[in-house]
Amino acid sequence: MRRHKILVVDDEIPNLRLLRRVLSDEHDIIEAQGGAEAVEVLKNDYVSLIITDQRMPSMTGVQLLEQSIAICPDTIKILLTGYTDVQALVDAINAGHVYKYIAKPWDANELKLTVRRALEAFELKETNDHLLSELQIAIAELESVSVGTIRALADALDAKCDYTAGHSLRVSRIAVLIGRQMKLTDSELRDVELGGILHDIGKIGVPESILWKADKLTPEEREIMCKHPVKSAEIIGDLRGLVRAREYVKHHHEYFNGEGYPDGLAGEDIPIGARIIMVSDAYDAMTTDRPYRQSIGHDKAMAELTKMTGAQFDPKVVEALFAIIGPGGHELDRIISEQFPDSFIGLTLPGANPSKSGKRFQDEVERQARLAATDV
Ligand SMILES: [Fe+2]
Repeated sequence: MRRHKILVVDDEIPNLRLLRRVLSDEHDIIEAQGGAEAVEVLKNDYVSLIITDQRMPSMTGVQLLEQSIAICPDTIKILLTGYTDVQALVDAINAGHVYKYIAKPWDANELKLTVRRALEAFELKETNDHLLSELQIAIAELESVSVGTIRALADALDAKCDYTAGHSLRVSRIAVLIGRQMKLTDSELRDVELGGILHDIGKIGVPESILWKADKLTPEEREIMCKHPVKSAEIIGDLRGLVRAREYVKHHHEYFNGEGYPDGLAGEDIPIGARIIMVSDAYDAMTTDRPYRQSIGHDKAMAELTKMTGAQFDPKVVEALFAIIGPGGHELDRIISEQFPDSFIGLTLPGANPSKSGKRFQDEVERQARLAATDV
């Protein structure tokens, strides 16, 4: 065992000297002649153990130990007390302030043994705390790897269907803004952000002939398309820490009136993050170009959201979006492009410029038009 600093507190100097004599071979002893002096020591020095007499003028040993909790919560506390102080002792033990009490007059060997045990407990807690902080660092590193993986998945989706360039990230960020407006917790906002990025990741498994189809989907094609929320959830799988985000993703096409998919959930049975992603997704889809239509513009998108409120969309979520969106949607655009709040998972927003959306699709349409003209 290493040498520790032990604070001994007693109003009688001979008692302090006695404690020093017994313990100073193995440890460094600091003396205090009362509670006030001991508090000053604790504020300026880090001690592993306090041994205090109970009966002292102006501040009792129990009162000192109570005060010491706020200054040095991990320091071990031992109370020296006579049998007449039973009630104080019981109170102190019950309040968790005392590791051990030693009855006076104390025996030197018993005191040494108790101090040794107390300091072993102190060292064990130090080791545990150290291991815990190392574990937390390791978990944080693992989570940062996960963020890299998530970003890679989102990029893979954007590469597959360029018309959605930045769509996932924009949805994610609009969703966080709505979530903040609705006073979600930071933990929920993190999952809303993750869910927003990953909500359509299952479209990676949908053939491009369906993703890029300008005409109405056939029932079979629609069935394939409608599987994407469940596919998204499957891709997320059982990743630790993503359980709630996975539920947000799985249910982002549920309608507030119960007529959505995959499970036909309704109202508040739909997870709040899913209801938020649903509105964010719809707003972004309507205000950016898609294979099957051009952007309908902010005003029409707002009218559409209003029309479908209560049927497709949660009224509270739409209300929250309207509160932050501003006239012409400019306020929302400005917040996203200029001063979006820090990402909860450390993502940036490259490729999310709405004006770039649809470029690859338009190029492809023009290419096919040229080919068609050549065939003729
Ligand atoms: Fe979707």
